[in-house]
Amino acid sequence: MVFDINSIRSDFPILSRHVNGKPLVYLDNGASSQKPQVVIDAIKKAYSQEYANVHRGLHFLSNLATEKYESVRFIVARFLNVDDESDIILNSGTTEGINMVAYGWAMNVMEPGDEIILSVMEHHANIVPWHFLRERYGIVLKWVDVDENGVIEPEAMLDAITPRTKLIAVTHMSNVLGSVVDVKSICVGASAKGVPVLVDGSQGAVHMAVDIADIGCDFYAITGHKLCGPSGSGAIYVSKKRQSEMRPFIGGGDMIREVHKDQVIYNDVPHLFEAGTPGIVQTIGFGVALEYMMGIGMEQIAAHEKVITEYASTQLGGLNWLKLQGAALDRGAIFSFTMDGGAHAHDISTILDKKGIAVRAGQHCAGPLMDHLGINASCRASFAFYNTVEEVDALMDGLRFANELFG
Ligand SMILES: Cc1ncc(COP(=O)(O)O)c(C=O)c1O
Repeated sequence: MVFDINSIRSDFPILSRHVNGKPLVYLDNGASSQKPQVVIDAIKKAYSQEYANVHRGLHFLSNLATEKYESVRFIVARFLNVDDESDIILNSGTTEGINMVAYGWAMNVMEPGDEIILSVMEHHANIVPWHFLRERYGIVLKWVDVDENGVIEPEAMLDAITPRTKLIAVTHMSNVLGSVVDVKSICVGASAKGVPVLVDGSQGAVHMAVDIADIGCDFYAITGHKLCGPSGSGAIYVSKKRQSEMRPFIGGGDMIREVHKDQVIYNDVPHLFEAGTPGIVQTIGFGVALEYMMGIGMEQIAAHEKVITEYASTQLGGLNWLKLQGAALDRGAIFSFTMDGGAHAHDISTILDKKGIAVRAGQHCAGPLMDHLGINASCRASFAFYNTVEEVDALMDGLRFANELFG
């Protein structure tokens, strides 16, 4: 398909609205993406025509909802290039996925003193569950720093492995610096030493085609609301080997076959890890969103974003009063910056907002990275495939204006 940006933009009703009297320039995609009309329509249809609980009823609507919900497992498997859709556990997003790995897998296989290797640029969702294990079970967290360009070298992660290492948990793409991590090399090296790898794909899967068969990780988590889907949807891939080492951590309906006073007979994977009524409509919308993105083509999306990334890098890099955080060569369209001696990140974002430009300011749920960079906040412009180079220009105008006010 030819990448027709105007046609793509017209799929997203919100992109034609105004904010503060100016055309919306939405550059907060790292936090959450906007939703195309097909997803909005699918949600409306699911609630107005096709709604019932899943996996339980023998009536028409329950069967229909179950069919639609279960079809999303195939869609996610196709999106991530996973052969067997039963390796996909549907959930509410990455935070739930990683907590499931922490409670369902790590607590089952780790002993006090065992180690987890983390990069310093992880999102809190890939840190705090491991802190729980540190606080409650004596698991040791080992941190690998980014280099001066904001890059995590695979060798640095692999060099940190000791005989006590039980997991490497690493992001595919930094939500602050945009740096892409060579997760395949990490997986190859770690697997040679028998260490499983969890990849946080919350940002990576949004900006490039993901091929789990090629990466070879044990766990890969994605979150629906950053992939044009509804909030409260997501999925995690778990390899067969790690499934066999897991125990369910949320108990309830759907994850059991039989319950007696003195015995429980469990359901099979993936249902074993999907207790209770799931986010039915969210998941159905998530499937439609992934189909929509695959319809455009993840390679096409990556190619369009590369143009935006290169243009934004040059433009932002040309401002000598702006400090761009990170300079990875392999990077996505996520830019964090501060103004040396100028406006605070919150002030910059407030000024940009007055011009209809939505960016995020703060710590971006990445406390250890902020500590490493020696800053307490940055401003972040994060682009999606529906953004344009003209929107980079709008950002530049807004930043120049902020600099004139505060510089
Ligand atoms: C890299 C990364 N990991 C994890 C998350 C958490 O995702 P969610 O809040 O959807 O569970 C985010 C969200 O910002 C993220 O950027």
